[in-house]
Amino acid sequence: MPKATLFALFFILSLILLNNSCRKEGSTRGLTKLDQVRPTAFPYPRYNFVDNPLTVEGFELGKKLFYDTLLSDDHEISCGSCHEQRASFGTFEHDRSHGVHHSHTLRNAPVLLNLAWSTYFQWDGAYTKLTDAIAQPLTGHVEMGMDFHRIVEYLESNEDYRNRFKDVFHTNKIHPDFVLKALSQFTGNLVSYNSRYDKYMVGQETFTAQEKRGLALFSANCATCHAPPLFTDFTIRNNGASYDALLKDIGRMGVTGRKEDSMSFKVPSLRNAYNSSNYFHDGRYNTLHQVIDFYRFGMQQRDNLDPLLKNGIRLTDAQADDLFEFLRTLTDTSFLRDRRFSER
Ligand code: HEC
Ligand code: HEC
Repeated sequence: MPKATLFALFFILSLILLNNSCRKEGSTRGLTKLDQVRPTAFPYPRYNFVDNPLTVEGFELGKKLFYDTLLSDDHEISCGSCHEQRASFGTFEHDRSHGVHHSHTLRNAPVLLNLAWSTYFQWDGAYTKLTDAIAQPLTGHVEMGMDFHRIVEYLESNEDYRNRFKDVFHTNKIHPDFVLKALSQFTGNLVSYNSRYDKYMVGQETFTAQEKRGLALFSANCATCHAPPLFTDFTIRNNGASYDALLKDIGRMGVTGRKEDSMSFKVPSLRNAYNSSNYFHDGRYNTLHQVIDFYRFGMQQRDNLDPLLKNGIRLTDAQADDLFEFLRTLTDTSFLRDRRFSER
């Protein structure tokens, strides 16, 4: 090949490469960078958005998607229908949630907070990636009942979405992956770290004598699994919850097929627990008092009951009240009312 042709080829190739590197999908050119919130008291997050650079525009797009009922088959249900801010992004005072066409979910909608620290998603830990946990309800028949072909068709037919996706992902074609990434920018940044407990721990708030007793009881009986500062150790365990013959939910065993995982569920965070009723994977308990009484009187002895609970938890009525008062200190009012997370 003549030298001139070689040189021309090389020149064209470099141009293509240069162009691609500028326009690559992860680029945040022209966008406002958003810093991931990493509270000083928390460990380093497990997920740090390297493959999905955080921007104000990406977060806002995720929020718009989160509250859009047109992303469901009957145009009635959005993510926010089941994940309500006032309930720390769980379903307010419901055991299970209503999905498309008057359906009913099998499980209680978990709170959405501090998800960037999570190792598992869903009550049985079916997913290890946030985007997988987000894809499931979009297509699930008891949640939103859509498919990605129709989702993309709808988004591309809408001028505002077309513009926003183009801004954030630098392309005219809306890929399902972008939908999940935008939703992950929103949900992955719902960080709760401003409760009275947090302020107490850094000396900016005082606790009553009762709350202090509650904290001591919590540390002695609960904190191994519901480990501060995230109030979960992100493991999946059997805490003695009984099997419901109607719902037939066997927990982690449904994922692994192993008998020793029967009735094991993800240890939920207790942040904002006072506001996130109902409780447990199927929302069987309405109040925190009922949950505390479960640990005192209701745990089922089974072969795979977690060893930490084998001897039961003994608390007097007064101690149960102390524990309850402590759990209320985990409420983060600023999170529950934060306008950045609100629909409007
Ligand atoms: C009809 C109610 C409903 C809708 C709509 C819904 N979810 Fe959920 N969500 C749930 C339930 C119930 C679970 C628990 C599922 C399980 O454990 O099997 C859940 C679990 C999750 C989880 C895992 C949380 C964790 O800590 O394990 C994430 C993340 C999530 N949903 C995000 C979303 C997003 C984003 C949308 C919108 C695209 C959405 N959800 C729509 C009810 C709903
Ligand atoms: C061996 C680990 C373990 C210990 C110890 C433990 N828990 Fe739990 N906790 C769990 C698991 C697992 C669940 C989820 C159970 C389910 O969904 O069926 C849970 C659920 C909860 C919930 C419901 C939260 C929600 O969002 O649904 C509360 C409240 C709670 N625990 C409080 C406590 C308190 C208070 C103590 C101490 C008295 C305690 N736990 C001790 C493992 C534990």
